[in-house]
Amino acid sequence: MLTRICLARLARPFFALSLLVGLVAAVHAQSLAPEVTLPAGFATIDPFAQSKLMTRGVNVLGYDPIWADFSKGRFKKEYFRKIHDAGFATVRVNLQAFRYMTAENKLPDSWFRMLDWVVANATEAHLQVILDEHDFNYCGDTSYVECKPKLLSFWQQVAPRYRDTPGSVTFELLNEPHGLISNQEWNGLLLELLAVIRKTNPTRNVVIGPGVWNSRGALKDLALPGDDGHIIVTFHYYEPFPFTHQGAPWAGEEIRGGHDIAWGKTEEQLIVERDFDGVAQWSQEHHRPILLGEFGSYDKAPMESRAHWDAYIRKIAEDRGFSWAYWQFDSDFVVYDVETNKWNQPILKALIPKSH
Ligand code: BGC
Repeated sequence: MLTRICLARLARPFFALSLLVGLVAAVHAQSLAPEVTLPAGFATIDPFAQSKLMTRGVNVLGYDPIWADFSKGRFKKEYFRKIHDAGFATVRVNLQAFRYMTAENKLPDSWFRMLDWVVANATEAHLQVILDEHDFNYCGDTSYVECKPKLLSFWQQVAPRYRDTPGSVTFELLNEPHGLISNQEWNGLLLELLAVIRKTNPTRNVVIGPGVWNSRGALKDLALPGDDGHIIVTFHYYEPFPFTHQGAPWAGEEIRGGHDIAWGKTEEQLIVERDFDGVAQWSQEHHRPILLGEFGSYDKAPMESRAHWDAYIRKIAEDRGFSWAYWQFDSDFVVYDVETNKWNQPILKALIPKSH
């Protein structure tokens, strides 16, 4: 025992030194995204027209190591073209930017270089690009007070940088506000964020969703500025949760433990219709177009039901004129396997029925 402790003590400085050397090497080895020229030529687009252009989309890049080191990226440049050619019109880019900010909430050049690469290559592949600030867990779990300066700072930096990009690039204020951000606080915060964006992007369409994880139930509490006509409203749909999140490690215990749960009975389908009718009614009453920004069922759900649910949600959304973005391209809920470079055919067919 004693020997072990002494050895450990002796070894500690060497461990510390080698860790330091490793860290320094890692920092130096970090490779950056290739430099690109940002696409230019902004023109105002009516938000209803833009929603029609968005039509079918997919969430990308949220959990990709590419943000820390380009050479470690799972996502490849050619995927933008593949996504477009498969029949998608939009990528919703999930930005977990806070972790790259300095103590003064400044985003480093290396991070912007990566985002420029995304915006330029997605635009070149004729895709609409939604820049979605995705630090929802930080904002929901810490506090409104801690989240707010970071979010404001994010848009103070991101909005001017992309001010000249085409109207096909849109901004989404914050994914799934929830937890410590109450619906009332969100209504205040969204006004402040929008004001920051409007200084440099007076008519770019901005995507905004309700609180409580962008749930349709919270739409009734969402207060948008009546004098801003350049807003697309978003909501997320993962119901029934015990089906869509069965086996998902981050879900509550009961749901996490679920397996072999099927979906598709007539009464289950009718619930979806009723839910989406409610959103369509809100959209008409408030005269705002709708983007279903996330929906999907976890990889552990039975494939037949997954494909059925995905196809059904997609159709019910499209019937009501909503654009949508599937959750997600890579990582989990995958529609594309980056290891084999192949589409997950049942999911792709469910989303883009004419694909093969
Ligand atoms: C989160 C993901 C999660 C998904 C479904 C997204 O908003 O970023 O981490 O897998 O929702 O739960």
